[in-house]
Amino acid sequence: MSVTTTVPGEPVLPDVKMHAVRPTEPVFATITKNERCTVSKKTASYIRQVEFDVSGTPLVGVCNPGQAIGVLAEGNDATGKPHKVRLYSLSSPKDGIDGQGKVYSVTVKRSIDEHWDTKKLFMGVCSNYLCDRAVGDKIRVSGPNGKRFLLPVDPNKNDYMFFATGTGIAPFRGMLLDLFKAKCTSKITLVMGAPPASDLLYHDFFLDMQTKFPNFTYLTAISREKQADGHDQLYVQDRLRTNRDQLLAQLSNDRNCIYICGLAGMELGIFQQLGFILQGSTLEQYLQCDPQALRDIRHWKREMLHKEIRPTKRVLMEVYA
Ligand code: A2P
Repeated sequence: MSVTTTVPGEPVLPDVKMHAVRPTEPVFATITKNERCTVSKKTASYIRQVEFDVSGTPLVGVCNPGQAIGVLAEGNDATGKPHKVRLYSLSSPKDGIDGQGKVYSVTVKRSIDEHWDTKKLFMGVCSNYLCDRAVGDKIRVSGPNGKRFLLPVDPNKNDYMFFATGTGIAPFRGMLLDLFKAKCTSKITLVMGAPPASDLLYHDFFLDMQTKFPNFTYLTAISREKQADGHDQLYVQDRLRTNRDQLLAQLSNDRNCIYICGLAGMELGIFQQLGFILQGSTLEQYLQCDPQALRDIRHWKREMLHKEIRPTKRVLMEVYA
């Protein structure tokens, strides 16, 4: 059964299974691959594609890109309690990497920081646990979680504009693999943001897909370096301005959906750019705004989201702090 909508052009999302495995009763998965997925080895970020086999568990065949999987690191926290479950976005396609729904993947950035006051090194528990696993190791997993950040039931009925920052690319990698496999003829644009270009994830894969699928456009936005095309530092939303002419037709089409995944804050920047570009034309298909708010787009604030600025069902978001 599918969710029905009344507005033409809005995506119709599938019903998907959730919580096939609860974190209180996790199952074991076996690591099948663990490799870096940054474009260059010369980067200070450690981001890995971690693949795992869930054969023989209720997770077989039920994990979709856009959903998350829970991972329980071994050991206890500072209070002596077992580590809590951490959620990671799946970066694998619907039928898994093996095509049989048994092998899935996540995209994990090692969390490494310095405590502000003590100046001691802080290592994120679960991200480093996962990145340290070797092929053959068993990990405890649960899930899947989430049902709102999915590709539509019939992918050919919509066009797609994906915006990702950092590991926010994970669900889009899986979704794109599904769209390419289905030979989807829709217009598909991916805008990927990274601090230096060396942190771009799955970059060679997206470049390759762009040569194979004429309906796929891949743009990057590098925030701490000049762009390869000569533009200064950019955030993903700035591509709506720099590449306006290229993107306007897709944005103006009522088939288009906007998917946003990554750092909280990026959604507001994207909405402001949409406001600047589409005000007076097709903005309403993405954002329903109070007239007062429309008078001063430059000063929009996050607190206004879902109040004065209300994203429609054509905008799908997964953002995190
Ligand atoms: P910066 O950190 O230079 O401000 P990562 O997760 O690998 O750190 O990448 C996140 C990317 O998103 C970086 O390029 C980061 O830029 C950028 N970014 C940070 N804040 C925003 C924002 N509000 N809108 C869009 N992009 C952002």
